[in-house]
Amino acid sequence: MLQAEFKEDAHYIEQINRLRKERNAVILVHNYQRPEIQDIADFIGDSLGLSRQAANTDADVIVFCGVHFMAETAAILSPDKIVLLPDLQAGCPMADMITPEKLIQTKNKYPDAVTVCYVNTSAEIKAESDVCCTSTNAVEVVNSLNGRQVLFVPDEHLGRYVANKTGADIILWPGFCPTHKRVLAQDILDAKAKHPGAKVVVHPECTHEVIDLADEALSTGGIVKYVSQTDAKEIILGTEMGMVYRLQTDYPNKRVYLATEKLICPNMKLTTLDKVAAVLENMQNRITVPEDIRLRAKGSLERMLEIS
Ligand code: 13P
Ligand code: SF4
Repeated sequence: MLQAEFKEDAHYIEQINRLRKERNAVILVHNYQRPEIQDIADFIGDSLGLSRQAANTDADVIVFCGVHFMAETAAILSPDKIVLLPDLQAGCPMADMITPEKLIQTKNKYPDAVTVCYVNTSAEIKAESDVCCTSTNAVEVVNSLNGRQVLFVPDEHLGRYVANKTGADIILWPGFCPTHKRVLAQDILDAKAKHPGAKVVVHPECTHEVIDLADEALSTGGIVKYVSQTDAKEIILGTEMGMVYRLQTDYPNKRVYLATEKLICPNMKLTTLDKVAAVLENMQNRITVPEDIRLRAKGSLERMLEIS
């Protein structure tokens, strides 16, 4: 890092540390965030861990370093807190692949199905769903439904993975994560040829061709746990590149290879130190959810939290 950049970062970090105390703020950070953002986290984790933190914190302000649906989930679970998103453009393209109108139409086609929505959805979609899930607990949530037919939205790949794991009758929605879809089976084969002793761990948002070649398909929190427990010294990683920093920081004795440089989520990279400092200074970019939608969306999130 250049000397000038280092000085600038130090200036923002000092400002953030002062303001987080003054505002009684907590900084929640997703595992895919930039290294310098991971370094300022009060809590870093996956979607499930972050939802739990958002529901239980006694801070007045939550600065959410992630994407829009994550901040919205925090606002649904903690309506009395001020939830700030450092960059309002940080969305999730997968979450935008479903609309409430289309979901209602499809639900009408399958009146007996239970609607399970991935947490990567808007508050409106959560409000229209019976129960929410994250990639950590999707299998557990579907297993809890006693064999009922499931309409799983919006991630086709996670839905297929859950169907294979549970044997449940799952109607898939044609949504996907553009970042994880970029990993090809050939990328995994090439990485394996280069690092024959390595274990392959991928995210269940990857295609089934990629999942089939992996030793494990796990949420980002699951990947951290796996790396902490495995005897393997080398890991080929099939998820967003931010995880490499997370794993190398926590487990410096392991070697982590990204399956392909294409594994970057541009939305996750929009959060920068200057933006975190700015929202804390100006208390801007507050995320709120209309109360009628919030209460219905909270129902599906709470059902998930009860199950897992
Ligand atoms: P998890 O951290 O819950 O595995 O989710 C990954 C993801 O893509 C979030 O957008
Ligand atoms: Fe959405 Fe994929 Fe980015 Fe996660 S990694 S926020 S699913 S686009």
